[in-house]
Amino acid sequence: MEKFSTPLREGGHSRDTSATKSLNIIGAGKLGRTLGRLWQERGVFDVRAVCNRSLHSGKAAVDFIGAGKACASIDAMPTADCWLIASADGQITELATALAAHLETLSAGSNAPVVFHCSGALSSEILRACHPANVASAHPVHSFADPVRSLEALAGSTVAIEGNDAAVTVLRAAFSALDCPTVTISSEQKTLYHAGSVFACNYLTALMDLSLQCFAGAGMQEEEALALLRPIVMQTARNNMDLGPGASLTGPIARGDATTVEKQLAVLTETSPLLAENYRQLGLACVELARRGPLADDAAEKLEAILNGNPQ
Ligand SMILES: NC(=O)c1ccc[n+]([C@@H]2O[C@H](COP(=O)([O-])OP(=O)(O)OC[C@H]3O[C@@H](n4cnc5c(N)ncnc54)[C@H](OP(=O)(O)O)[C@@H]3O)[C@@H](O)[C@H]2O)c1
Repeated sequence: MEKFSTPLREGGHSRDTSATKSLNIIGAGKLGRTLGRLWQERGVFDVRAVCNRSLHSGKAAVDFIGAGKACASIDAMPTADCWLIASADGQITELATALAAHLETLSAGSNAPVVFHCSGALSSEILRACHPANVASAHPVHSFADPVRSLEALAGSTVAIEGNDAAVTVLRAAFSALDCPTVTISSEQKTLYHAGSVFACNYLTALMDLSLQCFAGAGMQEEEALALLRPIVMQTARNNMDLGPGASLTGPIARGDATTVEKQLAVLTETSPLLAENYRQLGLACVELARRGPLADDAAEKLEAILNGNPQ
């Protein structure tokens, strides 16, 4: 049984699709199948075909989406108004080149299609092989770790879009229909913009893991540690959203407690060089943040010296 399987919502198959734009998806993995399913259910796009690396995976994606047919290659895909390339970032150029050749064979008499990808790190420039198609990138600031969970959780997530006007107009409407606000981003700023979401989403996950490693070293089971962390992590996230990082920082660095920081760094150095190195780097970021608030300069300098390995 396909692991992402979940029953289609009522009405998923029975809509009149005559006025709906058609969509083909190349690479319907976690993101592609979630968007495909939601757009199909909302009547935004009619998913016509899916091409994954393996036909088996393509068929599973079609089952999840509840529409379309699985194709063994891009060349076997029918014409469509819109094409989403949702492979991993490293394959987008190659797939765009293959799609460009296929679009030439399909293009006689039809309007220029929209071709887009959803990478946060890459701009629509990577789709230039597909011109004269209208190209764009649309990055949902959402973690598609589990497509079933994302069906419920995606609404409210912002989508950053850039590309040519015709494609941007289509994608704004498509994401708005999923209750996702859209913002525009310039192609030059995309890499730095994406680093921003990597820090807050991916690095937060790494921080949780580092935290759990410390609790494990202190003899706690993971379940117990997660129960301990849940309220404080949620509260910290809420504080940051409501008050901003400056007013949310608590703990030894915010208090200028150099003795505690020195002791923790010593024990982490004995436990694991990786834990100690991360503690140092993040500690320095905390000192910089605390300096912008009430932390006195001499206390900040003392903390920086400890974290840089040169205690005064
Ligand atoms: N995951 C997230 O949280 C997230 C968030 C925002 C944006 N994005 C972006 O969304 C895109 C997809 O990410 P993802 O996490 O959904 O990736 P994923 O789950 O790994 O899915 C990638 C899909 O691409 C298919 N694929 C790989 N090579 C292919 C090829 N040569 N021909 C056709 N299909 C091919 C794979 O097919 P098989 O199943 O057969 O291997 C798989 O279905 C990326 O650009 C990523 O940056 C992801």
